[in-house]
Amino acid sequence: MEIQVFEQEGIFQLNTEHTTYLMGLADGKYLGHLYYGRRMQDHEGRYLLRAKDSAQEVYKRYRDKINFMDSFHFEYPVSGTGDFRDPGLRVRDEGGYRVCELHYAGYEILDGKPALKGMPATFAGKQVGQAAKTLVIVLRDEVLKLKIELRYSIFEDNDAIIRSVVAVNEGEKKLYLERILSACMDMDNDGFDRISLHGCWARERHIQAVKLGQGRHVIGSVRGESSHYVHPFLALTTAGTSQKMGEVYAMNFIYSGNFLAEAELDHRDSVRMSMGLHPDGFEWVLAPGERFETPEAVLVYSAAGLGPMTRTFHSLYRNHLIRSKYLHKKRPILINNWEATYFDFDDDKLVAIAEQAKKLGIEMLVMDDGWFGKRDGDECALGDWTVNENKIRCGLKALVERVNALGLKFGIWFEPEMVSPDSDLYRAHPDWAIQAPGRELTMGRHQYVLDLTRQEVVDYVYESVASVIRSANIEYVKWDMNRQLTDLGSFGLDAEHMGEFSHRYVLGVYQLQERLLQEFPDLLLENCSGGGGRFDAGMLYYSPQIWTSDDMDPIERLSIQEGTELMYPLSTMGAHVCVCPNHSVGRVTPMETRAYVALAGTFGYELDITKLTEEEKEKAIGFNQLYHRYNDLVREGEYYRIASYRENGMYDCWQVVSQDRTESLVTYVQVRFETDQNSRRLKLDGLDPKTRYRLEGTQEVYSGEMLMNAGFLQEMIFGDYGSRLLHFVAENR
Ligand code: DGJ
Repeated sequence: MEIQVFEQEGIFQLNTEHTTYLMGLADGKYLGHLYYGRRMQDHEGRYLLRAKDSAQEVYKRYRDKINFMDSFHFEYPVSGTGDFRDPGLRVRDEGGYRVCELHYAGYEILDGKPALKGMPATFAGKQVGQAAKTLVIVLRDEVLKLKIELRYSIFEDNDAIIRSVVAVNEGEKKLYLERILSACMDMDNDGFDRISLHGCWARERHIQAVKLGQGRHVIGSVRGESSHYVHPFLALTTAGTSQKMGEVYAMNFIYSGNFLAEAELDHRDSVRMSMGLHPDGFEWVLAPGERFETPEAVLVYSAAGLGPMTRTFHSLYRNHLIRSKYLHKKRPILINNWEATYFDFDDDKLVAIAEQAKKLGIEMLVMDDGWFGKRDGDECALGDWTVNENKIRCGLKALVERVNALGLKFGIWFEPEMVSPDSDLYRAHPDWAIQAPGRELTMGRHQYVLDLTRQEVVDYVYESVASVIRSANIEYVKWDMNRQLTDLGSFGLDAEHMGEFSHRYVLGVYQLQERLLQEFPDLLLENCSGGGGRFDAGMLYYSPQIWTSDDMDPIERLSIQEGTELMYPLSTMGAHVCVCPNHSVGRVTPMETRAYVALAGTFGYELDITKLTEEEKEKAIGFNQLYHRYNDLVREGEYYRIASYRENGMYDCWQVVSQDRTESLVTYVQVRFETDQNSRRLKLDGLDPKTRYRLEGTQEVYSGEMLMNAGFLQEMIFGDYGSRLLHFVAENR
């Protein structure tokens, strides 16, 4: 890892282990993007500024600045002075002008990695070899008196580059930031395809790859959360990119609210790739002396396909983002009562589930929605975080003690950001719900959203949640969020500051979770949003695991988990064995397949285990043993995608290899059975070619070389939805 600045030549070079990022100054003042790709020692890339190209020649000779501004590959583009592509920054002054031009004003190299105030941020790792360095490039608009700091952090042990932007008002007049993205990158098009993730409730993060055409291709969320529908991830890939081949330029956003990701291909065949806060409805007032920090965007380049990109993200998030002490620990196998009982439960029912759970080897009971206020359905009581003594008749403390006495931990569900119209909280503080004056409040799942831009609301919510956790031995919290934000605005903000609302809301959520972790450092937190509506890198800073989707059907989960694993480690994916037929799609699948797919994440159950047959109970005991046998490998190993059901329509396969390459677990799911088919070759990956691996439970031994080049022969399984777990263990090492 090195950051070098060649002042004479006006070149900035960032080198990670396998990549190089080059920037350069044109005319000593415009900061341009020169190169991002395979690592190079050479920095002499000035010619890439294209000073001889016609646009720039024209600029010099005829003062046709527009031609230059509209073609130059800017490192951080602005609006108003001739660059008509979508900018990184749009700023308005008090006179209403949206004109800006940033000139280079200096740089600084910092040891380490600055944190962000009140927001998730990557950090230098704690182990030797995980240090970080940061390059800060300062740009200024002398008319606006606006200073922009572009931050680039790199790590000793990772190829990602972390970017964020700081704006400082150095003048005496207010400035209005209408758009301030975290990263932009101008490149030549290389026949790019565009990969993004799309879906909806119970169908989150399906991978979509399409040809990048001319124009602006914008994905984003304005729902107040990163959302089920589209994900803060964007990759541009060269034609034919696969897991092992092709160039990949990827961006992921460490943020949990409104975002924009964009690829704009222009008439010169230049691409501008951008990531940041969504500008719709956004406006941040920068008073004299004030500063604004953007969230972080992660950039990853891979010269060898999507596989290395994925593993770079995984290692970045494991070593430089997730703080939880549970990150490297086996999480307790949990049973969640939601799909077992929905709202229809009481203390005795929960204890009966816990008793059965104990016999099967389950380690924690999670009491889901319905334990508080008068909540017997989803129409009421959110905000009233006191135990419902008609259901939990013995009281919460006694219930937790009963469950603990059985040898199980106890976890609880909250939806802290919400309030039901039919709740004591709403009756006492109707103005705490987000609303626009004079309008009917827009209802979502019978509930409103609390205005977390107001500190008194944040404080109240915190106390009401924390006092429940203090009252009993609660070791796990599921933090849910079940609707999107509407009627945006706050009684706590004046008209001039109303554009800050959406970002301030997210800062309120972050503050709540930070306080929770400070007061309860041993708490295992799992974020959730109606399934996977807020599965994002921002939340991973607070919780080491996130509920991936309400759809636990193993076949639906294949595409959901494939998209999630594209950048998030397996150890972060909440995954449970569901009831059959599945409640979301009605599909009937073997219990093994439900379990094997769930074993790819944090493992648990979400069905009424008191109703299992004896045979199913025996199976569950076996699955729990498998979890204990394989979870260290799944959690800490390197992930490889071997085959995708989304692509082939027939089967799915992924593999995890231990860091020392002495063992590997392959999960194979045959979605469809067909007659007269040969066995399938699964070409494995990541093994040591010279090591011989024995397939557990058999006498079959294969060299790593053979498994990776010729492949393992997987026989057809009779019937649909069959699956296998294949565990290979090194023999001769
Ligand atoms: C949505 C979550 O994703 C579910 O797991 C469950 O907790 C329900 N909310 C409860 O309302």
